[in-house]
Amino acid sequence: MRKNIVAGNWKMNLDYEKGLSLFSEIVNMVKDEVVGDQEVVVCSPAIHLHSIAKLAEPVSNVAVGAQNIHQAESGAYTGEISGAQVKSTGANYVILGHSERRAYFGETNTLLAQKVDAALANGLRPIFCIGETKDEREEGKVFDVIKTQLEKGLFHLSSEEFEKIVLAYEPVWAIGTGLTASPEQAQEVHAFIRDTVADHYTQKIAADTSILYGGSCNPANASELFSQKDIDGGLIGGASLKSRDFLEIVKVFN
Ligand code: G3P
Repeated sequence: MRKNIVAGNWKMNLDYEKGLSLFSEIVNMVKDEVVGDQEVVVCSPAIHLHSIAKLAEPVSNVAVGAQNIHQAESGAYTGEISGAQVKSTGANYVILGHSERRAYFGETNTLLAQKVDAALANGLRPIFCIGETKDEREEGKVFDVIKTQLEKGLFHLSSEEFEKIVLAYEPVWAIGTGLTASPEQAQEVHAFIRDTVADHYTQKIAADTSILYGGSCNPANASELFSQKDIDGGLIGGASLKSRDFLEIVKVFN
């Protein structure tokens, strides 16, 4: 079901106490100030998941997610965390395919397809990230890159499985740089993504898919971005670490 979603990606930030404190601020602000039916998701490092999921429990439109899972159900994978373990904390989402994991940890589309299967098998909703690098954009390869990431990462899924996916278009050149994609640039790619999903599955499944934008989204540009026809919210990095900034972005959908 297509929903407006604003998801925060804390990345590798905040110790236990600071994470708990920030999440408490966010939950209280959502309770007091959010009147729309948008979903608010916070994707934290694993150390926070159980404690913030407990705080989120009584608030219907706030959910919690992880930033990665291993593709195996369990086993001798020192340092890793499984879908079942993430689910056991009370989390319901997991970011997969983030460009930082593709770049720094060598995560391929083939591996990500396995991680998507593991997430779905454990009742987690993947927030699946796709996006081109600066070079790929300059070489005119945006649509080829996006199509390949969708085909190899997600299109093995049945229609019923795909309906659980949240997509996030994150142009790599906009992540953490302050160089936000223009609303027109973002809308063009979001529309292509939705058309590509419709071609593989159905128009209805495409219309029901939430497609988020990520990449230097902040209170100053969120409203214009989210007003675009095929942009259903944001995946927010830096601005999600400041409760007031994050809530200003969430309130765009009020
Ligand atoms: O996953 C969201 C993130 O990559 C965007 O980061 O700091 O550009 O909002 P930022």
